[in-house]
Amino acid sequence: MPLIDLRSDTVTKPTPAMRRAMAEAEVGDDVFGDDPTVNALEERAAELLGKEAGLFVASGTMGNLVAQLAHLGRGQETIAGREHHLVIDEAAGHAVIVGTSIRSLEDRPDGTMDPAEIDAAFRDPSDPHEPISGLVTIENTHAHSMGQPLTAEYTRQVADIAHAHGVPLHIDGARFWNAVVAQGVRPSDLAGPADTVTFCLSKGLACPVGSLVVGTRDVIWRARRGRKLVGGGMRQVGILAAAGLVALSDGPDGTIERLAEDHTNARRLAEALSQMDGIVAAGGTAQPGLGPLDPKRVRTNFVLFKVQRDRAAFLEALRARDVLMVEYPHGQVRAVTHYGVTADDIETTIAATRAALAETSPRPVTPGSLVATA
Ligand SMILES: Cc1ncc(COP(=O)(O)O)c(C=O)c1O
Repeated sequence: MPLIDLRSDTVTKPTPAMRRAMAEAEVGDDVFGDDPTVNALEERAAELLGKEAGLFVASGTMGNLVAQLAHLGRGQETIAGREHHLVIDEAAGHAVIVGTSIRSLEDRPDGTMDPAEIDAAFRDPSDPHEPISGLVTIENTHAHSMGQPLTAEYTRQVADIAHAHGVPLHIDGARFWNAVVAQGVRPSDLAGPADTVTFCLSKGLACPVGSLVVGTRDVIWRARRGRKLVGGGMRQVGILAAAGLVALSDGPDGTIERLAEDHTNARRLAEALSQMDGIVAAGGTAQPGLGPLDPKRVRTNFVLFKVQRDRAAFLEALRARDVLMVEYPHGQVRAVTHYGVTADDIETTIAATRAALAETSPRPVTPGSLVATA
């Protein structure tokens, strides 16, 4: 039986249309600006998000990093959520490479930070002791809150606060398209208030590699320099960009609209899990309190929960049934739906979860460490 791999949406394999486009891609040397497929992808991304320019980068981490390099100088500070990927899961690139600090605020269960706290987090620029506030970031969808999509209104509110302090807003939109589809909004409306947005092709959109950063021509030029600095200037990379153009295309080969299917599958999985003895809500940001899992909190493609079992033994019992889920911070288990996982696979997963629970002995849930996965 083939594996049902729910560890992450990063495990998606390219679609047949992507493989064809990659094989046939017209290429050039992208560092010279000569790769027509990369240029077309960057233009397409910018157009969709209503920005002037785009930049193709190797990963979401690199996208966030070059955006920080474009916006910030050494000794400046970024205001971000305590559990944002950029804060805890990017090997401290902000400190090591950008030379900046983070002022981290509480992430709320709806994936937002309190706007009043954001406003109060700005430093006093006239005080020589303090770092200089230089950037605000938000994460959309917000992973640790079980993939909550943030609204255009909230994005506007945060942008207004940042801009009133003369500081730009960056969106880590690793799963930006899940937020677009879940809310039925135009991508340009969701991206509009922000100065830069990173989004990933290599997650739910099913491309093998790559992310894009979009913004004004000027800021993308600076990001391009940053990309060179970190060794991210690639050459005949149209081979990879070709898959991205398929993902972002209108029509049946595009992979944006189909994200709705992943959201339906995630909700169905959560509904079934919520009925099982031994599965409880994740607690904390994912779902406050430790009651039953609330399937209504599943709005995109993440399901987070705790299992009243030895977690490793539970995951092993699932693996023995060809279903993979993954450990997530704070003692949670994560299942992520994506291209390649069908509604039938979800029914198989539900049966496998029941069997894995039956096979492992009950025990109380325990808190886990703050270590995350992609
Ligand atoms: C919210 C968020 N931002 C950024 C990233 C980084 O993406 P990548 O793994 O492509 O570096 C991830 C990866 O999972 C993520 O979940």
